[in-house]
Amino acid sequence: MNILVSGGAGYIGSHTCVSLLEEGHQVIVVDNLSNSKYEVIDRINKITNRNVIFYKADLTEKDLIDVIFSKHAIDAVIHFAGLKSVGESVEKPLKYYHNNIVSTLNLVRVCQNYGVNKFVFSSSATVYGNNQVPSVETLNLLPTTNPYGETKAMSERILKDISSANPELSVSILRYFNPVGAHTSGLIGEVPNGIPNNLMPYMTQVAKGKIEKLKVFGNDYLTSDGTGVRDYIHVMDLAEGHVAALNSLTKGVHIYNLGTGRGTSVLELIEAFEKANSIKLSYEIVERRAGDLAESYAETSKAFEELGWVAKRDIVDMCKDAWRFEKNNLE
Ligand code: NAD
Ligand code: UD1
Repeated sequence: MNILVSGGAGYIGSHTCVSLLEEGHQVIVVDNLSNSKYEVIDRINKITNRNVIFYKADLTEKDLIDVIFSKHAIDAVIHFAGLKSVGESVEKPLKYYHNNIVSTLNLVRVCQNYGVNKFVFSSSATVYGNNQVPSVETLNLLPTTNPYGETKAMSERILKDISSANPELSVSILRYFNPVGAHTSGLIGEVPNGIPNNLMPYMTQVAKGKIEKLKVFGNDYLTSDGTGVRDYIHVMDLAEGHVAALNSLTKGVHIYNLGTGRGTSVLELIEAFEKANSIKLSYEIVERRAGDLAESYAETSKAFEELGWVAKRDIVDMCKDAWRFEKNNLE
């Protein structure tokens, strides 16, 4: 198939491009490179020995997207492009609503115009808000605490409404838990913009000596050791989850959690990283971070039963692969 991957130069998109190319698909990436570099495309090509077709274009500009669809017979779209920093979204809500919502609307509109009926969307476990765990797809969505999360919940609703009005559409909404790790080649991985917000990239930068000490945000949660528990998922498992979703698309909107179903605390992740990479990480316990949940992990049976997909890589793989990429990353 000819798959258009929006945001394909980014962290999750680039790994998914590798999986798609390895499955024999043709990949057309559209990315404005606002949070990525063209070099990633070269690296995808190097890993797979294939060639991605690349367009530097902004999805908020509908006419540009129209031109791309007119040049290629697109069979399906995987829509990763979006801004994702929770903190920045609180400071600049307009930027987030505009970028994330207008991009989704434009892409869906162009799909309708060209009769492209297969659509996979990147959502987030953040849409569950402070709901019960494990998070199961049938839960009612609670308001999230930030504009970023709201753009995901809104995009989900937009896709549901458009799909109700157009029964030919097949939409898969994938709610990611906490993606970490990198491709085993060490060529592609997560490159945070400035000081990382998320735990794993922060840990790898402490390990590299770029940052002196890790701050553990609170040890007084009602969890096994008092620190926050998350469902970390290897980015290559996530990539393979997209291929499975694409292969299983059926008419209507279908929502799947992509996680491992297992929770790991901050202290457990630190210990696993130290063991896997024979490195000591210095850390200190500090205050809780505003807006953090005690615990989040996925109920994964729907993805297994309907997509035949299950995460295969463990915490050790995640820690080793994340560190290999950080060591190789010359920035
Ligand atoms: P990323 O920032 O690495 O990749 C997103 C890509 O989209 C970047 O290359 C960026 O340049 C591009 N982009 C942004 N706005 C664009 C626009 N208007 N037009 C064209 N390109 C644009 O992020 P990621 O971690 O790979 O996340 C991919 C998707 O998954 C995002 O939608 C994100 O919200 C969602 N998600 C990510 C996580 C996570 O922890 N990484 C968790 C849940 C959901
Ligand atoms: C964060 C976002 C969430 C987003 C997700 C994936 C917030 C409040 N939430 O979630 O919306 O979907 O990333 O991109 O920003 N931790 C530390 N020290 C650190 C960093 C994190 O102790 O320096 C802890 C956190 O308190 C948490 C765990 O590590 O318990 C994981 O944090 P993080 O990687 O930021 O992910 P989330 O909090 O799940």
